[in-house]
Amino acid sequence: MISRVLEPEVMDDPEQAVAYAKADFEEENQGFVDRFREYNPDMTEGHVLDLGCGPGDIPIRLVCALPRCRVTGVDASPPMIRLAKEAVRKAGLTDRITLRCERFQNLVLPEPADAAISNSLLHHLHNPLQFWYWLKKLVKPGSVVLVMDLLRPESPESAQAIVDQYAKGEPAILRRDFYHSLLAAFTEDEVAAQLAELNLSRLLIDVPDDRHWVVGGRIY
Ligand SMILES: C[S@@+](CC[C@H](N)C(=O)[O-])C[C@H]1O[C@@H](n2cnc3c(N)ncnc32)[C@H](O)[C@@H]1O
Repeated sequence: MISRVLEPEVMDDPEQAVAYAKADFEEENQGFVDRFREYNPDMTEGHVLDLGCGPGDIPIRLVCALPRCRVTGVDASPPMIRLAKEAVRKAGLTDRITLRCERFQNLVLPEPADAAISNSLLHHLHNPLQFWYWLKKLVKPGSVVLVMDLLRPESPESAQAIVDQYAKGEPAILRRDFYHSLLAAFTEDEVAAQLAELNLSRLLIDVPDDRHWVVGGRIY
């Protein structure tokens, strides 16, 4: 198994942000929202926090699926937040989705959220323990959390094969970022060790396909 190759934490290159926003993540993002609802079937209202919300597609899908919920999306990248604001305005959802351009490590909420989600953020972080620490701190005890990210493949060749299989025909910048993200990602065992270190082993880890892990459950 290869070691992690870190990538920059924040996606603040405007060209990179636009390529990401234009990519077709419909199946993955809708699947993420559907999974959140499966983990949290009783949630019909309340405040959901999205850490590393990127261009805002998941917050939009979530409030459309749960019309009495509101979302705060947080991302440290100014171009990502600009794209997210534009998408939210176009969707007519500015009253239900709040976007904040800041690092989650600096986030202060007026009160803890009722649930938290995060897709594809953890692999950007040099210190992943900060993420689990803040996740726990930013929600009410007993809240449902759902976190998903990429799995690090066995070798650079396997990473390239995944890029070729799933991002065929995508722009070069997106393929490059996908490859680097795979090399920066964590293994299932590493995620389990992070959860154990923060006393979060009650959360369940699942590996739903050849390139993702998912962690979900109630956080205390
Ligand atoms: C790969 S994108 C995922 C975007 C979105 N969650 C999605 O699934 O479409 C990861 C995002 O996390 C953001 N990010 C990285 N480190 C961050 C931090 N410390 N605080 C807030 N956002 C961060 C990046 O700027 C980037 O927009």
